[in-house]
Amino acid sequence: MQDIRVSFQQCFNRDATLVVQSPGRINLIGEHTDYNHGFVLPAAIDKCVEVAVAKRTDGTIHMHALDLNELVILKAIALQPHPTTWVNYIIGVVVQAQKYLASASHELNNGFDICLQGNIPIGAGLSSSAAVECAVLFALNEMYALRLTKMQMALMTQQSEHEFAGVKCGIMDMYASLHGKKDQVMLLDCANLESSYYPLVLQGYQIVLFDTQIKHELASTEYNTRRLECEKGIQLIQQKYPAVKTFRDVSATQVAECLQNNASLEGTKVYERCKYVVDEIQRVQLAVKDLLAGDIAAFGQKMFATHQGLSELYDVSCPELDILVNAVTGNPHVVGARMMGGGFGGCTINIIKETEVDHIINTVSTLYNQKTKRQLKVYPVQIEQGTHIK
Ligand code: GLA
Repeated sequence: MQDIRVSFQQCFNRDATLVVQSPGRINLIGEHTDYNHGFVLPAAIDKCVEVAVAKRTDGTIHMHALDLNELVILKAIALQPHPTTWVNYIIGVVVQAQKYLASASHELNNGFDICLQGNIPIGAGLSSSAAVECAVLFALNEMYALRLTKMQMALMTQQSEHEFAGVKCGIMDMYASLHGKKDQVMLLDCANLESSYYPLVLQGYQIVLFDTQIKHELASTEYNTRRLECEKGIQLIQQKYPAVKTFRDVSATQVAECLQNNASLEGTKVYERCKYVVDEIQRVQLAVKDLLAGDIAAFGQKMFATHQGLSELYDVSCPELDILVNAVTGNPHVVGARMMGGGFGGCTINIIKETEVDHIINTVSTLYNQKTKRQLKVYPVQIEQGTHIK
């Protein structure tokens, strides 16, 4: 990346007040569980977004995306979703801050200049959009002394994604980007938003991401549909078991009893979706025990099981992701692999023996190219701190 202070100076002819970095994330296990009140086990990574900002006084926001060399200027008030995707990640957050302040005369409405750049691959399922939203809100929080906590910022950026990007995402991506700690994974309980951190000790293994280089168009509509399918399932379970509040109170037996062979669900996949969710909630809790016991092999087996559930029951995988997971299944040097994030493209996450990483990358790349005619991209990742001032 370029020196963003220099770029800011070139764009706006003055110094930036502040530079903020916000990372992308991986998720070891716990997929599509965040909006289902389950657990996730993400970590922030060594790929990030950077923003540089300074206040204006004329009521406009000047946004410069350095990687695209695009400049967009908008009035700071009455902001609406914009046709340019990256612009929404900035203004969506501004709108949340304005709602929070609920003051027509707040200085924020006088506008600001912002430069943006990053090295998180876009559309790869590493939460580049959440990283932008978190970087922007963190910067505004500092610059205008808004006194938001990181938790408030996570909730506000999530809301921004719902309203300005149209994806009814859970809290995981924003939470992980903001709260990451170096070399630690966080177990986030999405029912009460409490988290605990654990050092990730991989004993001679390395986390490597394989990027399909695909982002299927269905991703955001199917994502929202999965959410609705799960809501439908929980409503039906509640009819029979009124004490049930969320999937956390539901057993696999209850899912089968209420949803399998339920005539009102004919032609739907509500049973399959909910079965996956309760299995996965259970699996994450067991996987954390494996991690704490240093049993990487048992942990990795659960990653494979998660992939199978995502592919066969939750139906958010795609042929390219399945090819990549199948390519390493049964390889004694790969303890675990699965698709990661929302699905329909993006990356798989693999835990690979350090000494075998190069060899496995070569084999998988060749196979992927043969089967899909596409070039595999590979990212070894390190676990880094969350959003911070640079
Ligand atoms: C996307 C969403 C997250 C989460 C994952 C799936 O990354 O933004 O909230 O639901 O998909 O686990």
